Amino acid sequence: MSFEINNMTIKQIYNLAIEMGRKVDFRMSSQINALLKRARDKYEKLSLQEKKVFDKDNLVNPYSDSRILYGDSDKKITRIIMGIDMREAELLLADRLGNIDLVISHHPAGIGLAGLDEVMHLQADVLASYGIPINVAEGLLKKRISEVARGVSGSNHNQAVDMARLLKIPYMCLHTVCDNLAADYLKKYIEKAKPEYVGELLDLLAKIPEYEEASKIKAGPKLFAGDRDNRCGKIALTELTGGTEGAPEIFERLAQVGIGTVIGMHMSERHTKAASKAHINAVVAGHISSDSIGINLFLDELEKKGIKVIPASGLIRVKR
Ligand SMILES: [Fe+2]
Repeated sequence: MSFEINNMTIKQIYNLAIEMGRKVDFRMSSQINALLKRARDKYEKLSLQEKKVFDKDNLVNPYSDSRILYGDSDKKITRIIMGIDMREAELLLADRLGNIDLVISHHPAGIGLAGLDEVMHLQADVLASYGIPINVAEGLLKKRISEVARGVSGSNHNQAVDMARLLKIPYMCLHTVCDNLAADYLKKYIEKAKPEYVGELLDLLAKIPEYEEASKIKAGPKLFAGDRDNRCGKIALTELTGGTEGAPEIFERLAQVGIGTVIGMHMSERHTKAASKAHINAVVAGHISSDSIGINLFLDELEKKGIKVIPASGLIRVKR
């Protein structure tokens, strides 16, 4: 019997996350491969100067908001701390706790935050899979993606990354890869249960342990638009992955292609009004609790490989 810890390197953890995110991506694998090939073709045509500053992970990783932010990729990892927003304070916490090999944040930082808008293109393909013509989906998202790009452009992107460097603590962010896992989990759960009424859908969600825990702190699933007595109609999971909230005009289009209910992690007032106007029931499952589902599915795999996990920063840790 061996007592050797089966630890992984930072690079292996990163690759596992991308692989898991890809496996359950709402897009087909061939679609993702075509996107990566297109990125490589574009890269080849860049000038030397453009190539010098190009984010080469873009050529192999379809998720711009999931990156190794600091640390030697070959470093062996046995103990990590992961949470929803692992930033300056949490990096200091990791240093204070000691003996932590890697800090993983779900929400992006550094280059992952500056490139958040890029991953939003995923949403166009998800909308197309629900029947919205791709040209319409891309057209509607274009404005919103540029809005997000401008929104994140003024941030002090590398503040937390600098903290990690000074503390010499490896740092990573895994955003859409985990959100994909949550979206896939919820899709399968809902498709199996086939709720007829919105109330039934809410009750079904409330049984998922992360949402049950969230309900205890008044952060459980909520109905933002529609009524518990409404029929769900066709349920779409368009608001769970792909960076951040898409375009509000999408709801009208979703109604036209036969969607009756949308499940999201969170929803702004602008989107809630748009859903209501389009007679779409908007079920908001919960932000941190939904993030937790995706993170948990990833952490379960890490634990299977012998990595010790400390949950932090709002993460509701549930093992499956
Ligand atoms: Fe989130």
